[in-house]
Amino acid sequence: MDVVVLASGRGSNFSALLTAQESGELPIRIVELVCDRPEAPVLAIARAANVPTHVLDARRFTERSDFDRALFARLTTIDPALVVLAGFMRILVAPELRSWEGRMINIHPSLLPRHAGLHTHRRALEAGDRRHGASVHYVSAEVDRGALISQVAIDVEQADTPASLARRLLGHEHALLVASVGLIAHGRLRWLQGEPLLDGVPMRAPLQLVIGSTTRFA
Ligand code: GRF
Repeated sequence: MDVVVLASGRGSNFSALLTAQESGELPIRIVELVCDRPEAPVLAIARAANVPTHVLDARRFTERSDFDRALFARLTTIDPALVVLAGFMRILVAPELRSWEGRMINIHPSLLPRHAGLHTHRRALEAGDRRHGASVHYVSAEVDRGALISQVAIDVEQADTPASLARRLLGHEHALLVASVGLIAHGRLRWLQGEPLLDGVPMRAPLQLVIGSTTRFA
């Protein structure tokens, strides 16, 4: 299955997908990395692995919609089966998004619908949340509100800071993203007429990843 990854920064989620591809765990081929920041470390990771890169420097576009149009034009040219937003820090607003519904997923560092948007770790602590985590969801026009696929949750500890929470969660995020892409790549999760079907059945709730596993959902 051909996959395009969109990323903006460090690239640890991209690396997790790449590792799973290279080990054969995921039957995918990352055909391109699209990045909106020319200085993002993720670009070097992709280049070192011979993954083609495409930089769309967000600062060169005065209008948000122009950036989006360029992005969707690129995606249409490549026409991958799946687009994975893995630490892609831009909101997509173009109407073209609709034609990608069901073919684009995002990883978000919170237990959605809690804490959509930015600064999720800080906000989880400020809210006194006892559990925090990450979610993978289909991308829709409403930011961080598309149909949920899966989640992973950890306990918040008394001494946690936003940084420690982010650090403790990150490895689980990677596992969640790999497991979720795996569901799609293995044909278990499909998008049909506006909703996700798992093994042919509409999903009632997001799958919960078993901690320590990259394949097992509770
Ligand atoms: C991750 O926490 C992801 O969930 C969020 O941004 C971070 C990106 O990290 N959207 P990386 O670039 O994949 O290392």
